[in-house]
Amino acid sequence: MQNGNHTQSLVLIKPDALKNSATGYIFSILSEFNTGLYFAGMKVVNVTEMLAAEHYAEHKEKAFYPSLLEYITGKTHFPEQPQKQKVIAIVYQGPNAVQKIRDLAGPTNPNNAREQKPGCIRSLGAVVPVKNAEGAVIDQRIDNLIHASATDCEAEREIKLWFKPNEIPTALKSFQTQISERSFYLKDGKLITEYNSGSTPIIAAGDIVWKSDLDILDQLISGQTPSGTLELVAAKYLLNRE
Ligand code: GTP
Ligand code: MG
Repeated sequence: MQNGNHTQSLVLIKPDALKNSATGYIFSILSEFNTGLYFAGMKVVNVTEMLAAEHYAEHKEKAFYPSLLEYITGKTHFPEQPQKQKVIAIVYQGPNAVQKIRDLAGPTNPNNAREQKPGCIRSLGAVVPVKNAEGAVIDQRIDNLIHASATDCEAEREIKLWFKPNEIPTALKSFQTQISERSFYLKDGKLITEYNSGSTPIIAAGDIVWKSDLDILDQLISGQTPSGTLELVAAKYLLNRE
């Protein structure tokens, strides 16, 4: 649960913002001086398909979902430059963090943002026509510079999805944590608790983990219906590694 008025929100500086060198501008708009919000966590992430799919799971059935994954994984803006396929993920904390950042971000569609809230961050975004090989417009892309959690509940899910507890200073951790009593590994997309050749370690016995993640892993191992997916837990442990 988020802590009363003192909430956290997840912001992603998306690939179009990085391409347009808008990072400093966005940091200025969201600065503690302007907003009363402060950093609780920050990192550079090469977004995997697993993380992108979990982050935008609510849009799985939408027609724009495949292009949304291409966008957030950086393939749209940097198709030939894997070293630039990344986002900056930030946890902001402070009074009414979620609502404050949503207000400063503005409407999802940059055309609406310009009309309804000139000056908001997304008013600097673009709606880009998507054309087929013949040059006919078949779709549109919404390049809106940042992601911002929409509700406290969404913020909690997203912060736990993107960050491990030890990436957030102890005094700023907002969600319940627990020490894992056992180790967990992935092998061929399955969860196991004993290391064997070809398995990928995700959590070692003694590691600090989000309690809700540990619940999901324990449920999966004991064959109960899990309260979330394995990918929801595992994605952050598989970032920025070979
Ligand atoms: P996020 O902060 O990124 O989650 O945006 P949002 O909460 O303002 O909007 P929503 O969660 O509904 O959509 C997620 C993202 O999908 C948006 O930021 C856009 O990049 C993209 N998106 C939303 N609606 C459309 C659409 O109709 N067409 C296309 N191409 N993209 C869309
Ligand atoms: Mg959203």
